[in-house]
Amino acid sequence: MKIQVLKDYGEMSRAGAEIIAETVRDNPRAVLGLATGATPEGVYDVLVEKYAAGEIDFSEVTTVNLDEYCPIEPSDDQSYRYFMEKHLFSRVNIRPENTNVPMGNAADPAAEAKRYEELLASLGYADLQLLGVGQNGHIGFNEPAAALFAETHLTPLTESTLAANSIYFTDRAMPTEALTMGMASILRAKRILLLASGKSKHAAIARLLEGEISTECPITFLLLHPNCTVICDRAAYEG
Ligand code: F6R
Repeated sequence: MKIQVLKDYGEMSRAGAEIIAETVRDNPRAVLGLATGATPEGVYDVLVEKYAAGEIDFSEVTTVNLDEYCPIEPSDDQSYRYFMEKHLFSRVNIRPENTNVPMGNAADPAAEAKRYEELLASLGYADLQLLGVGQNGHIGFNEPAAALFAETHLTPLTESTLAANSIYFTDRAMPTEALTMGMASILRAKRILLLASGKSKHAAIARLLEGEISTECPITFLLLHPNCTVICDRAAYEG
């Protein structure tokens, strides 16, 4: 695992975007695994700038997002599909049919999870998977637990995640479940890039750096990946 500590959120975002841009330059047909949340917003802004400057072409790129609330309509302004359209897809030349987010409004979430995992397998999983981390160490929505799921599945969200994300649901209760890639779906990516910014992520980063793998802190499973880069800002690294 390579760890890079940069000054602040802006530097972290630029470094993260550069790795994604390089991946697409090396392989214009790359499969990018993407994340939502506050952490990658800056990366997407830099990618849009690079696209506008002619430095990156998304026309042959395919994307697979990590997760989606369930139940939620894709058109809901708090859905992860909506987030991706707003922050990246509508701002670059990616083909809509090449973008994939689990369907949070599926009538049968278990069938949707199976479909999504089969889709990942058919694409050969991500060439580069971008990750953020929850304050409790979750990646995707693989929440701390006695056992973790390997493949895409429906999961209840923990109190920590509900508390962290309910700020976005100002006018209503947030969904309490999500569809998420599993640990194996994530670890099958050829390369992983995890970004962490701010003091609230320090505990999770500290657990990762301790070097012990525990289902109670899912980020620690990244220690098993042969090509994982972690970029943190100083606040996340030092606490
Ligand atoms: C989002 C995701 C989550 C977030 C995590 C951190 O697609 O998979 O694991 O990366 O909850 O969220 P932020 O970046 O909002 O702190």
